[in-house]
Amino acid sequence: MKIIRAKDYNDMSRKAANIISAQVILKPDSVLGLATGSSPIGIYEQLIKWYNKGDVDFGGCTTFNLDEYRGLTPDHDQSYHYFMHKNFFDAVNIPAERINLPDGAQLDAERECKRYDAAIKAAGGIDLQLLGMGLNGHIGFNEPNDEFDKETHCVDLTEMTIEANKRFFNSIDEVPRQAYTMGIATIMRAKCVLMVVSGKDKAEILKKSFFGPITPQVPASILQLHPNFVLIADEDALSAL
Ligand code: GLP
Repeated sequence: MKIIRAKDYNDMSRKAANIISAQVILKPDSVLGLATGSSPIGIYEQLIKWYNKGDVDFGGCTTFNLDEYRGLTPDHDQSYHYFMHKNFFDAVNIPAERINLPDGAQLDAERECKRYDAAIKAAGGIDLQLLGMGLNGHIGFNEPNDEFDKETHCVDLTEMTIEANKRFFNSIDEVPRQAYTMGIATIMRAKCVLMVVSGKDKAEILKKSFFGPITPQVPASILQLHPNFVLIADEDALSAL
């Protein structure tokens, strides 16, 4: 595990964007695992700037997003499809047919999760997986559990996650109760995992995740075992250490 200390959110975002663009420059046909949430937005903004300057070219890349709400269609403005197009895909040149997210409109969970895992496998696996972290240590939507979930699966979101995500919806009742997410094994199989964490409200869970025991009650703690895990955190997020 490598921890990179950043001054603040912008510094964290630039450092992470540097690593992603280096990945794409070194391997133009990279398979990138992408994430949603407020943590990666600054990274996408930075990558778009470099793309516009001609410094990085995503034309050979394939992407797989971590998760999607079950029951939201891609055009729903709170779906992760919509988020990714608005914040990244519409501004860069990843070919549409190589952009992958779980399909929230497919209500047959078993079928959709199998399809998604097979697509990741067929692409040769993920070269670099970008992650944020939920307040309870969830990664993707792998919530605290009695065991580590393996492959892509359907999860019931915890009250804490529903509460944290209600700010994006008109009311808490509109927040979906379920999501499809890559599993812990899917994430752990990525050749490199890059996590960004920012803000004081994540300080305690960051400490628990990376300086405490490895337990499925704190899903991110499994990353301590990943052979190529890079954590970029700002000073606020590191303030409990
Ligand atoms: C959601 C996403 C996660 C993300 C988390 C934290 O639950 N499924 O992938 O890491 O939110 O979001 P934020 O970065 O806004 O704190």
